[in-house]
Amino acid sequence: MPWIRNIHKWASVIVGIQFLLWLSSGIYFNVMDHDKAAGRTHRVYLQTDVKIDTQKLVDPATVLIQFRPSVMLTLTTLLSKPVYLLTHKKGLYKNFENHYTLVNVYNGRQIKIDKNMANALAKQSYSGPGVIRSSNLFAAPVSDFPRQQNATWKIDFDDDVDTSVYVEAGSGRIVGHSDDDKRLADIFFMLHFMDYGNEGSFNSVQMILFAFVSLWLSLTGMIWTVDLGFRGQYQVKWFAKKRKVKLFTKDHQSMGSVSFSTHANLLDGLAEHSIILPSTCGGGGTCGRCKVMINPVVKYTSAEQSHFTDKELAEGYRLACQHFSDDIEDMTIIDVTKAQKHTLELIQSFFISPVTKELKFKVKGGKSISYKAGAFMRFFIPASQTNTIPLALSDKFKPYWQHIKDRTFEHAACSRNYSCAMSSITTEELVFTIKVQSAPEEGLQPGVASHYLCNLSVGATIEVLGPFEEFYVTDNSEKTLVLVGAGSGMAPLRAIIDEQLSVSFESHITPREIYFFYGARAEIDLLYAHDFYNLTKKHANFHYIPVLSRPDNEWSGATGYAQYILESNLDILGNINGLEFYLCGPQGLMDEVISILKNKGIKNENVRRDLFK
Ligand code: FES
Repeated sequence: MPWIRNIHKWASVIVGIQFLLWLSSGIYFNVMDHDKAAGRTHRVYLQTDVKIDTQKLVDPATVLIQFRPSVMLTLTTLLSKPVYLLTHKKGLYKNFENHYTLVNVYNGRQIKIDKNMANALAKQSYSGPGVIRSSNLFAAPVSDFPRQQNATWKIDFDDDVDTSVYVEAGSGRIVGHSDDDKRLADIFFMLHFMDYGNEGSFNSVQMILFAFVSLWLSLTGMIWTVDLGFRGQYQVKWFAKKRKVKLFTKDHQSMGSVSFSTHANLLDGLAEHSIILPSTCGGGGTCGRCKVMINPVVKYTSAEQSHFTDKELAEGYRLACQHFSDDIEDMTIIDVTKAQKHTLELIQSFFISPVTKELKFKVKGGKSISYKAGAFMRFFIPASQTNTIPLALSDKFKPYWQHIKDRTFEHAACSRNYSCAMSSITTEELVFTIKVQSAPEEGLQPGVASHYLCNLSVGATIEVLGPFEEFYVTDNSEKTLVLVGAGSGMAPLRAIIDEQLSVSFESHITPREIYFFYGARAEIDLLYAHDFYNLTKKHANFHYIPVLSRPDNEWSGATGYAQYILESNLDILGNINGLEFYLCGPQGLMDEVISILKNKGIKNENVRRDLFK
């Protein structure tokens, strides 16, 4: 249900933003000075004893007749003098629409709150050092008191907090003081109560809309949760048990029974028995490589929906990393790798560019490993502490690291895949080219595995699993090989070139044309350039096309980006149906090359790519 997920995602963004605003404004309300936030920095409340000469008072009945219709007459004081306050219309609250008349108690004449009187009333409620800067009469509402519905005088004082005193024009009532502190508090009130229209109320349209969005967030969350539950995404696991599962090959041959822990997924459970399924995502459900067949009644996950057709799902195709042994009795293994666990010992480590190292390992225990060029190994990086700037950096490369802050950082255990950078039929030594991945920006963690491995000392050991052979050249083809790569995507491509042309494979040196487009920033970043130029001299069928995006003036080769140089030269490489492409580099480069090849009509089956590891 992608539309449910989309609604849930965007609703959670809206609710999440408002939640952060509630949190920050709530913290402000807890730490603020409440007197200041109410604008009372320079506010005084006078209690005056006013003597009234009752003998001279105009009869209230006369006043009521004169200023009718009135609902109430009150004897009150204004500027220390007694006055009658006649109410003609009374709202539920003081700030609601009210109609008043003020009358002199001794002569029965109406008193108007003019500018002078408003100033005098404002001064009477003000204790600060400022003097009046301006006085203006405003019709309702006024921005500092949005709920005020009656005409109001605003008297501004030139003090340190820009105090404004508001006096109601009809009654002379002090509506309130406002100043910089109150205005700041008002902003937080606005954020907290979502009063973005400054209505002085939380019964706003935006609050109603927000409640509606929250309702959708809850509903879509519930629907999504139930949907995932039906797909078997949630499993309550109590105590680990052992469970026997019968294994079969895809030709229906029995492989015997193995026991699985009910707490381990099928991918890990098989690995315990040295049956290593293909995987490039390490069990994340994204690569779709760990295919098995199990009882079709076992519910599939959303990850499996994106990797299998409905027909395959109905036949029982599933991803081993997505299921546990609880629900199954037998399982058909579609594909296994020859990967095994090995311990490697570092025997050589040196920089081949400012940020890339070549690491050579020896397989411990006198074992040897055979693999096809393009294979990769999975390194298990232990939790550790390592340096942001690699140790043993030569003076030549130090300037390239000057912008990095030298510090140590701690990291958790993880696993990472690295391609072998040399070909081999059988070897005891493995070579890798590893780019030391700096943090993408200040405050983020640098690449854990690359820093750990490039800081290893000669003699140190590390556990690996492999080889995984998923990117390799098929022998039974005569098509031209077109290799495209950048950065440390060099490793599997170098292994392929080595396999096709190396003297160690003398009897297999290929007659196929090989074009190698390799992108780098500057000449110093071109890995193994010397070796490739030598190969072009020895093998007329090998063509090395380095492309620099930031060349210096000495550079006479291709400039720009490897994918565009490939695009402009594609027509001279031969018939497009006679080309076979091998790609390895950053995702952006791979995507662009694939789109170029698609536009040229090159079939998918002639394009292989190694996801940048
Ligand atoms: S391991 Fe990648 S999908 Fe299962």
